[in-house]
Amino acid sequence: MSAILQELKHRKLHSDFVIEIEEPISELLDNPEAIEHIRELWQTSPVIIFRRQSLEEEEQVRFSQLFGHCETANRKDIQSPYRDEIIYFSTLRYADGRFVGGFAGGDDVDWHSDQTFVVRPATGAMLYGVEVPKGGGDIYWANQYGAWDRLPADIQKLIDGRTGTYRYAKRMAIMNTLELKDKDSPQARKMASLPDAFHPVVLTHPVTGRKALYADPTTLVSIEGLSEAENARVLPILFEAGGSPELVYRHKVHNGDLMMWDNGCTMHRRDEMQLNQPRLMKRTTFRLAADAYCVPH
Ligand SMILES: [Fe+2]
Repeated sequence: MSAILQELKHRKLHSDFVIEIEEPISELLDNPEAIEHIRELWQTSPVIIFRRQSLEEEEQVRFSQLFGHCETANRKDIQSPYRDEIIYFSTLRYADGRFVGGFAGGDDVDWHSDQTFVVRPATGAMLYGVEVPKGGGDIYWANQYGAWDRLPADIQKLIDGRTGTYRYAKRMAIMNTLELKDKDSPQARKMASLPDAFHPVVLTHPVTGRKALYADPTTLVSIEGLSEAENARVLPILFEAGGSPELVYRHKVHNGDLMMWDNGCTMHRRDEMQLNQPRLMKRTTFRLAADAYCVPH
């Protein structure tokens, strides 16, 4: 390992599941060896935290693109006015009354993995906290390698190699997403009519060989080949394993924190938060290479 790689300071925050890299991202962008090192670390530690960064949107996009091709088209209504690759989540409004970003309300958000309801999920994600509410809003990640390991052997055998059906309508029914509460709104109608997506319920990391449970409780409705009674018995076991407390890392987000995670082997949730405090988060999502990460396909 070269001197540059050894100088990339990092430490574990939770087992080998979550690490913090103590470097300014703006200084890593043009250092290919450092980026290669982060790619390797990310294969075993699927949640990486960079604290107190000061990033231009152009830098967040460049950093994301070093790990996979960024998405641009999903939500035009909450896109940054500067960069198509960035969407906002916010409690703030523009002068014309529109919300600056996706507004889910202040309620807590249940355990989920992003985009499981999509045919080809972009599983790489970076969330950058520009203005973070002081009260609540902590984010939690749960290690889905650990969830797989915890399952009883008979359940592992029953589900390994099988395909699940993932449905957005289930998420709409479960989550208190304020912007979708009006079921007749154009956005709510569009999401409710999405066709089902089908993915393996167990993903295998192509490099490490570790298996991860891919069972999003907010979208997974059934597993192919199991009877109705088996599905009714097995799904709650999977969902409970996915959120087991010992697999969970809790992050108190501060202004400037950038969090990157791999949705193929993690789930996340968020605490409730106060709506009388400003919030602006900037997110990118990007496609990971199937030969380097847990990609559902
Ligand atoms: Fe999410």
